[in-house]
Amino acid sequence: MSKVVRKAVVPAAGLGTRFLPATKATPKEMLPVVDKPAIQYVVEEAVAAGLEDVLFITGRSKRPLEDHFDRNFELEEALERKGDSERLGLVTEPTELARIHYVRQGDPLGLGHAVLVAENHVGNEPFAVLLGDDLIDPRDPILPKMMQVREQHGGSVICLMEVPLESISLYGCAAVEPTSENDVVQVTDLVEKPEVSQAPSSLAVIGRYLLDPAVFEVLRNTAPGRGGEIQLTDALRVLASMPESEGGGVRGVVFSGRRYDTGDRLSYLQANIMLASEREDLGPDLRVWLQKFVATLT
Ligand code: G1P
Repeated sequence: MSKVVRKAVVPAAGLGTRFLPATKATPKEMLPVVDKPAIQYVVEEAVAAGLEDVLFITGRSKRPLEDHFDRNFELEEALERKGDSERLGLVTEPTELARIHYVRQGDPLGLGHAVLVAENHVGNEPFAVLLGDDLIDPRDPILPKMMQVREQHGGSVICLMEVPLESISLYGCAAVEPTSENDVVQVTDLVEKPEVSQAPSSLAVIGRYLLDPAVFEVLRNTAPGRGGEIQLTDALRVLASMPESEGGGVRGVVFSGRRYDTGDRLSYLQANIMLASEREDLGPDLRVWLQKFVATLT
């Protein structure tokens, strides 16, 4: 079996209820972060790591997402007629990024179930899962390091980040042991969204995974867990206890770069401001305005 990861799976079937009414008729993945849909950052991250085969797990009412990564001849022609090659580039760019495929999840039974739906497309090879709510700053890529760990050891590799203990119940949480490498840990156990008092550490699972295909068989046998959903964290917990000869073993790469959470409203606003304030075109004016605005706050 190839140890090289070539395919990315991007679950995008969620209802986005935290952003209603904006997400009544627009998929949450299409909400702009500055001026680009959140999901495009994720695809760009996958492609930058060499993953040019991207499978979206979608659901009903995700048409705009498919349209975004497809041609729009009417718009392209209009921009061509105007000679606006800069904007034309912005329109065609998403269509040329990757080989994009879609499969619908059908029943929304949880993240673990969404990953299981990818089995037919992925086949018997390791693959990446990227969650759209986690935006990793392109200046701090983490997938290359995760791929290196996978190539070295096989098994599955997850991305972990230190978070304040009081917010650990928003995440999957890992119990770990150190390895000879500073930012790589052996995952011994996992728990999905624990109470603070039950958390084995303050290491949160961030939405980047490299999974051994053994995960599919495990997911098929994973009962609904937290929130009545089939949890990927629960399947990883099983993988962590399985022998490496059977595709088991889970390592964690501890991420210390910039990450933005676009999954809840406050973090989404912060992500927009932080990213816009660093942009060459918008940053200088925004920073001046921000400083004045902050001074008016008491
Ligand atoms: C999912 C996972 C959780 C992980 C999180 C990262 O939860 O179930 O383990 O920590 O993504 O963003 P969600 O935020 O989709 O509820």
